[in-house]
Amino acid sequence: MRIGLIGVGRIGSLHAQTLHDLEIVESVFLADADVARAHETADKLGIAAAGSVAELFASRPDGVVIAAATQAHAELVHLAAAAGVPAFCEKPLASDLAGTHETLATVAAAGIPLQMGFQRRFDAGYAAAREALAAGELGRLHAVWACTLDPAPPHASYIPASGGIFADCSVHDIDAVRWVTGHEVVEVMATGANRGADFFAEAGDVDTANALMTLDDGTLVALAASRYNGSGYDVRLELHGSQRTVIAGLDERLPAGSAEPGVTWPGGPAYANFAERFSEAYVAELRAFVDVAAGRIESPCRGEDALAALCVAHACERSRREGRSVRVEEIAQEVPPQ
Ligand SMILES: NC(=O)c1ccc[n+]([C@@H]2O[C@H](COP(=O)([O-])OP(=O)(O)OC[C@H]3O[C@@H](n4cnc5c(N)ncnc54)[C@H](O)[C@@H]3O)[C@@H](O)[C@H]2O)c1
Repeated sequence: MRIGLIGVGRIGSLHAQTLHDLEIVESVFLADADVARAHETADKLGIAAAGSVAELFASRPDGVVIAAATQAHAELVHLAAAAGVPAFCEKPLASDLAGTHETLATVAAAGIPLQMGFQRRFDAGYAAAREALAAGELGRLHAVWACTLDPAPPHASYIPASGGIFADCSVHDIDAVRWVTGHEVVEVMATGANRGADFFAEAGDVDTANALMTLDDGTLVALAASRYNGSGYDVRLELHGSQRTVIAGLDERLPAGSAEPGVTWPGGPAYANFAERFSEAYVAELRAFVDVAAGRIESPCRGEDALAALCVAHACERSRREGRSVRVEEIAQEVPPQ
């Protein structure tokens, strides 16, 4: 398989290394709007870089991985559809709901497979939690807690176009909750706080946020996100059942310390960033994408999943801004498919 990769920033350069290391990938071809950056990354790996995105598509790759900046995703997926090339796209599919619907329609008309980059679906702990729940080992779920706590804020320039903390950060947890429980979010109540850098408030965003979500079977979910988790990159999903509790992300690298005297667990080193926390999941999701591109499996994470998660994230954002509970159908009905 010959795979093209567009965008070699933080996540794209990681994906370039992963694809290069996958034995089922024969060659990787890179492109970036910053051509020098594409060449620099390609040179480090001993692979080739295109002079433009058009040149990359002209090379007729078997699949394309889109890891460019968020605002470029929809346009690049449209190019993949026009070229008939299976696509993997980092979240989001598009910056807004109208663009997401339009891109989904283009993908469907072209008939290309599309896989979204929600890597928690490929994390061993999340998958095991899902299986334990489905097997009935937990009994009735009485609480689900999900968090994504970043150790430090991204650069100030990233925030205005990020879509807000729920769409940028919590959207992964929203997808994970849908995937692990098999239920849809119907209503949310969210709030947020700004006690860090001024640039969050200047962009109308918050640096810390919480949401209470109700699933369609009545299960309550607590969602938490922060840009200031000094202990490290803490991403967990906790399923509390009437018979048993399981927690994804609870291992010796958990970025937290016990307050109990004499307890030394977890021993660290704490996860520092997404590359460390999800290293194996990124390999598994790209391995799956190669199988998707080869036609061996259906997409394990569809564009429709990105749409569903984005609707919930937007409901959280509106709830936070307006100080009221918001039903997800309120968001979905405002921007219906065309
Ligand atoms: N799944 C995850 O864990 C995860 C983690 C980080 C980022 N992301 C997502 O991945 C995307 C990239 O994030 P990042 O942090 O790597 O960003 P980044 O700013 O580090 O890199 C983005 C790269 O895209 C390039 N680019 C921008 N527009 C382009 C275009 N039209 N054509 C080609 N290249 C273009 C830029 O030059 C840059 O090299 C974002 O959409 C983000 O939401 C996902």
